[in-house]
Amino acid sequence: MNILVVGGGGREHAIIRKLKENPEVSAVYALPGNGGIARDAECFDIAATDIDGIVSFAKAHPVDYAVVAPDDPLVLGCVDALEAIGIPCFGPRANAAIIEGSKAFAKRLMKQYGIPTAAFETFDDPAQALAYLETAPVPIVVKADGLALGKGVIIAQTRDEARQAVVDMMEHGKFGRSGKTVVIEEYLTGPEVSVLAFTDGETVKPMVSSMDHKRAGENDTGLNTGGMGTVAPNPYYTDAVADTCMREIFLPTIRAMKAEGRPFKGCLYFGLMITPAGPRVIEYNCRFGDPETQVVLPLLDSDLLTVMQATTRGTLADTPVVSKRGAAACVIMASEGYPLHYEKGFEISIPEDVWPHVSVAGAKEQDGKLLTSGGRVLGVAAVRGTLEEALQSAYSMVSRIHFDHAYVRGDIGRRALQAREKQ
Ligand code: AMP
Ligand code: GLY
Repeated sequence: MNILVVGGGGREHAIIRKLKENPEVSAVYALPGNGGIARDAECFDIAATDIDGIVSFAKAHPVDYAVVAPDDPLVLGCVDALEAIGIPCFGPRANAAIIEGSKAFAKRLMKQYGIPTAAFETFDDPAQALAYLETAPVPIVVKADGLALGKGVIIAQTRDEARQAVVDMMEHGKFGRSGKTVVIEEYLTGPEVSVLAFTDGETVKPMVSSMDHKRAGENDTGLNTGGMGTVAPNPYYTDAVADTCMREIFLPTIRAMKAEGRPFKGCLYFGLMITPAGPRVIEYNCRFGDPETQVVLPLLDSDLLTVMQATTRGTLADTPVVSKRGAAACVIMASEGYPLHYEKGFEISIPEDVWPHVSVAGAKEQDGKLLTSGGRVLGVAAVRGTLEEALQSAYSMVSRIHFDHAYVRGDIGRRALQAREKQ
C-alpha cells in the first residue's frame, strides 16, 4: 500500500514510523516532510496548506490512502478534496474540523449539548467585549476564535491585560481574521491532560493519556511554545477520571457532532483540565497533538493503519485499540531563543542507534548534512517499564545528539513523577 502523509513535523515523523510497522505499507510519500522524515519516507516539496498541489500530487501518484495530520489543511478541506478524487483519508472533513477551527463553534457546541467547559461569552463587536470586561472577574481568558498557531490564548491577570488582548485581536488585527471574533472565558485551575481518541463518528476509542509541557522554561515558566516535551500516561488521568470523561465528554462530543450533521472521523484531541469540580474541556483539536503523538503512538499496541482505516470505514466498534503497558517520555531539543528569535542552519549529529527514537520537527538536508531549520528541531522518545526509566533513557539519548545552540528543558516529567508520589 502506498500512503500519502500531509505534514512535516515531529508528529508526522512519529505517525510515519508507526505506519511502517505494518508490512503491507510499501511507500510513504510525505508532503512536505522534512530532512529527518526523508530517512523514512519520500518527501516532496508541497506545502501542507497547498490543497491544489496535494490533489495534483495524489492524481499523479499511486496513492491508496492519505493521512492528513495538521490542523490547517484539515480546516481548509484537504480531506474533502482528496475524497473527491476517490482517495480514502484519515482525518475529519472541513465541516467537522471546525471543532478546532472555530473556538466559538466549539464553545457553542459544548454549551448546547451540556459538555463541561469553562463559562464563556462570544463577541464579534469590540465595544461589547470591552463592556463585558468592566464587570468580569479576573484572571480571565481571552481567545481568538480561529487558528493562531497556538498563540491565540491570553490569560489576563488584570482587566487592563484583558482589554489590551481584545484591542489587539479585534481592532489591531493581531492573528488576522482569526481574532475578529473572540471568546472570553472563565479562568480554570487544575492539572491538564491530553487525550487523543480515534473515532469513526459513532464509536470513540481513546489512546493512552499524556501530559504536554507547553512553557519554554523549567518549572513551567516563560512563554508558551508548541510543546517542549511529553510523558504518557498522565498520572492525573485516573480510571475514575477516565470514566467521567467518557460519559460526560467523549461520547457526548461525538454524538453532538453527529447531531449537527458534522460526523467527526479521525483523531479527536481532548485538551482537558481536571478542576476541583471535575474534568472540563479546555480545547478540542481536530488531529493528533504534537508532541503528544511522539509518546502516545509508541505505546499503541494495535496496528495504526488498521485503526486509521477503521475510522474511515466506520468499523471502529469492531477494531481493538490497545495500549502497551509501561510509560513513554519525549524530550524536545529546540533552538536557543525559541519561541522568539533563534538562528538556524547548524549541523545536527545523531548517533545511528539513537535515530529510531528521533522525530524530526525542524531540519533540512543540505549537501548530505542535516541542518537545523526550525524552533523545535527534534524530539527524542523512549518507552520503558516505568516513567523514571523512560525519562532517563530519553535524556541519555538527548545527551548524545549535538547541534550548536540547542535548548532542552531539564525537567520534563518531573511534575508527573511528583503527582504519582502523592497518589
Ligand atoms: P489552548 O490554545 O486553548 O490550548 O490554550 C492554551 C493554554 O492556555 C491551555 O493549555 C491552558 O494552559 C491555558 N488555558 C486555556 N483556557 C484556559 C482557561 N479557561 N483557564 C485557565 N487556563 C486556560
Ligand atoms: N500539543 C498541543 C497541540 O498539539 O496542540
